[in-house]
Amino acid sequence: MNLGQVYTKRIVADYMVGLFTLKGKAKMLDPCFGHGVFINSVLENTEFLIDGVEIDEKSFSLFENPNTRRCSLKNCDFFDIEDMYDGIIMNPPYVRQEELNALQPLGVSKQKLQTSCGLMTISSKANLYMYFFLRSILLLRDGGELIAIFPNSWTNTPVGKQFYEQICHYGCITDFINIEGEAFEGSPMVDVCILKFVRGESGNTKYKQMTICPTGVLSIASLNKPGENKTTGLVELQTVAKVRRGITTGFNKLFVNPTLFTRDHLVEILSSPKNIKGYSTNHCKLDTMLAIKDGDVLNEDETNYLENCSSVILKEGKPQTLKSMIEKGQPWYYITLPETAQIIFSYIVRSNLKFVLNEGRCNVRDNFYMISSSHNQYLLLALLNNYHVFRQLELCGKSYGKGVLKLQTYDISDIKIPHPTALSKEDTDRLIKLSEDLVATSNEGKIEAISDILNTYYGVEDAKDKFLELKSKRLTKYE
Ligand SMILES: C[S@@+](CC[C@H](N)C(=O)[O-])C[C@H]1O[C@@H](n2cnc3c(N)ncnc32)[C@H](O)[C@@H]1O
Repeated sequence: MNLGQVYTKRIVADYMVGLFTLKGKAKMLDPCFGHGVFINSVLENTEFLIDGVEIDEKSFSLFENPNTRRCSLKNCDFFDIEDMYDGIIMNPPYVRQEELNALQPLGVSKQKLQTSCGLMTISSKANLYMYFFLRSILLLRDGGELIAIFPNSWTNTPVGKQFYEQICHYGCITDFINIEGEAFEGSPMVDVCILKFVRGESGNTKYKQMTICPTGVLSIASLNKPGENKTTGLVELQTVAKVRRGITTGFNKLFVNPTLFTRDHLVEILSSPKNIKGYSTNHCKLDTMLAIKDGDVLNEDETNYLENCSSVILKEGKPQTLKSMIEKGQPWYYITLPETAQIIFSYIVRSNLKFVLNEGRCNVRDNFYMISSSHNQYLLLALLNNYHVFRQLELCGKSYGKGVLKLQTYDISDIKIPHPTALSKEDTDRLIKLSEDLVATSNEGKIEAISDILNTYYGVEDAKDKFLELKSKRLTKYE
C-alpha cells in the first residue's frame, strides 16, 4: 500500500514554520506527521500548540510526543478530523488516483475523500495531496494559515487548474515558493513547491525561488521583481516579519497620561524613544494611556473625564476626526490594543539607528514601528542591528529636515536580510550570542562583530565605512 511516505528535511520544515504570521498559542495541525519534523520545528521555534495525526500505525508508534503539554497525537485518518485550526502545516501524501482504492483497509475511500471536501468541485483524477489541501482549507478558521509542501507537477494540468480555482474560492495563495534542490530526505523528487494559503484573504501571490544546496544551505530569492539578484539569497524583511506602526490615539493630550483618579482602563505605554536606554525596553520609562474598548463599562470618573474632553474637542473644533465622530454620536474614544511586538524601531532618526528588543513587551505609541515574527527574536535583532541594514536605511530614508532621517513602514518592510534559515548553524549561534550581549551591555562593538559575520551573506566587506560615509554626508550638510 502506498501511503506517500516521503519526509521533509528539517531546514525546509523550519523555513515553512517561519512563514506563519500567527502569534502566541495558536492552534495548529499537522494532518500526516510521519516522523514528526513539523511538530518538532513548531515546538522548538514557536509557542503554538499542535495536534498531530498519522494513519500509519508504525510511524505513529515510533514518534514519541516531545511535549505533551503543547502537543497531542492521534493515530487515525485525517479525513475523520473535524476540529477547526488557526494554522495547518503539512507534507501531504502523494498518491495517484489509481492507487486510492488500495487504501480501503485503512478506511480511506474516494467517496469519503469527496464527501469530506463538501461542496468543492474535485476531479476524479485528483491526487491524494489535493484532497488533503482542500479538506485542510475547510478546517481553517477565517484568517487561518495553511502551509504545505508538495510536488508542483499540478500547475500545468487541467486537474491542477480546477484545484487552483477551488483554493482561490476560499482565500488567497499569498506565497508560492518553487524549490530547486532536494527538499525531502534522501528523495529524488525534484519539482516541489511550498504554498502558503490564508483563508478569507485576497491579494497577490509572492513568487519566490528556494535553492537547497547539497551542503544543506538554503537560500531564497524573490521572483516578483525583475532584475533582482537571485543568487544572494537575501529576502525582504516582510517575508519573515510583520512591520506595523504603534498605537495611534488620535489625541495624545487626552489619552496619554490622562488626569484620572481611577486606573480601571489605564495601560502602560512607551511613548518616546528618549525613554529607552540601550537596546531593550526593560527598565524604560512608561506613560499611561486610556484604553477603552467596545463593551467596557465606564466608571464615573471616566464618564466625567470623557464628557469634559468631548466638550473641549467640540469647542476647539479639533481633532477634526474625533469632532465629527462626537457630532455623529459615534463612540469616539475606543482604542484597540494590538498584540505587542518583539522588536521596535523609532523611525525619526538623527544620529543612532537602532532596533530595540521589546523585552518588556510594552505597548508602543505610533512614533515607533512594531516588528513581529515567529523567528528567534535575538537572531532577528542581529539581522537588523548591523551596518548592512543601517546602510540600506541611510539610502532609502527621506530627509525630515536638519539632517534628520525619516523611515516609512515600507522602507523597513523592504530591508534585505539573509533569510534566518539560510544562515549556517554556527553563524546563527554566534549572531544570537552577540545580540544577547548587545542587549545586555549596549556595547556597539557587537554591531561591528554582527556585521562581520554577515559580510559573506551580503557579499560586502566595507558596510560600516559605506554607512558612516552616508551618515556623515547627511549630518554635515546641516552643520
Ligand atoms: C509525505 S509523508 C509526510 C511526513 C511528514 N509530515 C514529513 O513531512 O516528513 C505523508 C504522511 O502521510 C501519512 N498519511 C497518508 N494518508 C494519511 C491519512 N489519510 N491520514 C493521516 N495520515 C496519512 C503517511 O503515512 C505519511 O507518513
